[in-house]
Amino acid sequence: MKPWLWLSPQFAHDIAPLALRLGAAFKTDEIPIWKPLKWNGLSFPNRLGLAGGVDKDGESIEEWWAYGVGFVEVGTITPRAQGPNPGVIMSRDLPSKALWNKMGFPGRGVDIARENFKDLPPRRRTPVFANIGKNRDTSNDDAVKDYAACMQTLDGLADAFVVNISSPNTTGLRELLQPRRFQKFLGGVLAAKNKIESSNTPVLLKMSPDAEDSDLQSVIKIACDLGIDGFIATNTTLAREHGSPFPPEGGVSGSPLAARSKEVLQLVRDAAGPRKLVVSVGGVMTPLDVRERLDLGADLVQIYSALIFEGPGFFKHVAREMQSQR
Ligand SMILES: Cc1cc2nc3c(=O)[nH]c(=O)nc-3n(C[C@H](O)[C@H](O)[C@H](O)COP(=O)(O)O)c2cc1C
Repeated sequence: MKPWLWLSPQFAHDIAPLALRLGAAFKTDEIPIWKPLKWNGLSFPNRLGLAGGVDKDGESIEEWWAYGVGFVEVGTITPRAQGPNPGVIMSRDLPSKALWNKMGFPGRGVDIARENFKDLPPRRRTPVFANIGKNRDTSNDDAVKDYAACMQTLDGLADAFVVNISSPNTTGLRELLQPRRFQKFLGGVLAAKNKIESSNTPVLLKMSPDAEDSDLQSVIKIACDLGIDGFIATNTTLAREHGSPFPPEGGVSGSPLAARSKEVLQLVRDAAGPRKLVVSVGGVMTPLDVRERLDLGADLVQIYSALIFEGPGFFKHVAREMQSQR
């Protein structure tokens, strides 16, 4: 039974943190261990984590642990608090198992996220990544300053930073991914990271599914030359399937994204080589999908849409399947 699917997407989204807390309150079990991974000094008990955008401020990290996640990505965190884009910001289509959103990084700002990271127990049950972005009223020319501010504020608290310039819902953001702007931007972000105290914190780049393959290859080459530690593929898409019920603006996720997400995963793995951390996200809806992404070269896998269609029990469902197939 999935009673939340009877509610409006916005209402279900608004009450999710409370429902999550209630559901997690009596769960004390260990995080399921399957295919554990050690990377860069971090220990992942399993390969399936929470994608960016679910826990924007890091308010429910311990609840996600109770549901058995292998890692949590908090954010997108911006330097200053900001509200969502105007109008309807999310919708879903049950027959095609698709979500649509044009949220635009609503959040309480990096100072609140910092408090939430500081409240975590000293021994974290999984790695916690911080996905960082710019405020919508910061120009692209000043974007590096926003990413630098987030890293400085979360210095020593995030286990990895995820640089998000692939969201379609902040006007002009994806222009930073154009190869001619990208080098200066990422060079600036990595230089700022090298100045923080925990300068060995790894940095991952979140990719867009909508760029041409040749542009993706250029971006990956530049990022690797600059010393990036890994990639997350992919963010939501502006592409629409024939008959899609969603408006042309905004990002689509879930099943319609799966084919392109897998293509980009393979492209990233080929272009980045075996040593970079590669995280696959986009249209992972079943335990078999998780296995397929790992077989295609992903080190880690994430979900957002599957949480809406299957509920938070999905993490343990996948764990049971993986453990029974060993
Ligand atoms: C409502 C919603 C909000 C999202 N917010 C963010 C975000 O703030 N930052 C980010 O990097 N990705 C965000 N995403 C993208 C997801 O992290 C993920 O890349 C995408 O949804 C594809 O995965 P899925 O098919 O499992 O949903 C969001 C996705 C949805 C559906």
